[in-house]
Amino acid sequence: MYNQTDLQDKIALVTGAGQGIGLACAKKLAEHGATVIAADINAEGVNHISKELSDLGLAVEPMFVDVIDPTSVSNLACQIIEKYKKIDILVNNAGIVSRYSCEELPLEQWDRVLDTNLRGTHLMIQAFIETMRKQGSGKIVNISSLAGRMAGRRTSPDYAASKAGVMALTKSYANHYSSHKINVNCVAPGLIVTPMTEGRHKPEDVPLGRLGTAQDIANAVYFLSSPLSDYITGTTIDVNGGMYMN
Ligand SMILES: NC(=O)c1ccc[n+]([C@@H]2O[C@H](COP(=O)([O-])OP(=O)(O)OC[C@H]3O[C@@H](n4cnc5c(N)ncnc54)[C@H](O)[C@@H]3O)[C@@H](O)[C@H]2O)c1
Repeated sequence: MYNQTDLQDKIALVTGAGQGIGLACAKKLAEHGATVIAADINAEGVNHISKELSDLGLAVEPMFVDVIDPTSVSNLACQIIEKYKKIDILVNNAGIVSRYSCEELPLEQWDRVLDTNLRGTHLMIQAFIETMRKQGSGKIVNISSLAGRMAGRRTSPDYAASKAGVMALTKSYANHYSSHKINVNCVAPGLIVTPMTEGRHKPEDVPLGRLGTAQDIANAVYFLSSPLSDYITGTTIDVNGGMYMN
């Protein structure tokens, strides 16, 4: 049952919240009553969207983070824990895409993509997991990709590997922290229209006949952040219009 206040009193953090899927997730969680920290490397973008969401009456606070940088991640965690004393929901959405063939992929690009998408997710979880462990509760939702499932010919190998890694990382943390009532799950989006992908995808590639929206992903992230998913951990929800069926 839809309940606009079901996340009231929850403190949620969404990375990469300045645009696209992260922005939709931040808005969705705030609409359900959570206080949302919208964190992004693009400080100007995240300040702007936070002001827009606050003007709608939603509790959204912008903060800077570069998920590649352990010092930046640790500064973010200190700021949040000092101010709010807890963290209930962590959505690891910040990510970058890559467009190289196996033959042409430069090593620096491999490092940049793996460091942002996979190591960044790990650093973020590490920074908050101890607080969740002490609380005896927490919801972590990682954003993977259809590319991590299929690694198709049009997918850059660094991107596919990073996103497959996010699914494995999800299971690993879920196994380690289930006894502390911390749920760690994953959402694997398919072809979603965002600034990252604008103009690249075709609806005819999708069995359900349309491209996905950021809202489609935010709906799954909300489910995994809410008490509705209390008995689910270590899993990946595929949100792809039928392009991959597990
Ligand atoms: N759009 C799609 O079709 C699609 C499909 C599968 C998976 N995904 C995944 O969903 C997530 C969001 O994708 P999107 O399409 O909204 O992308 P986007 O490029 O529109 O937004 C990504 C956001 O992450 C931020 N970001 C990038 N590097 C960062 C860093 N080092 N630290 C902090 N923030 C950083 C950017 O500033 C931006 O605001 C990504 O992890 C992406 O891989 C997207």
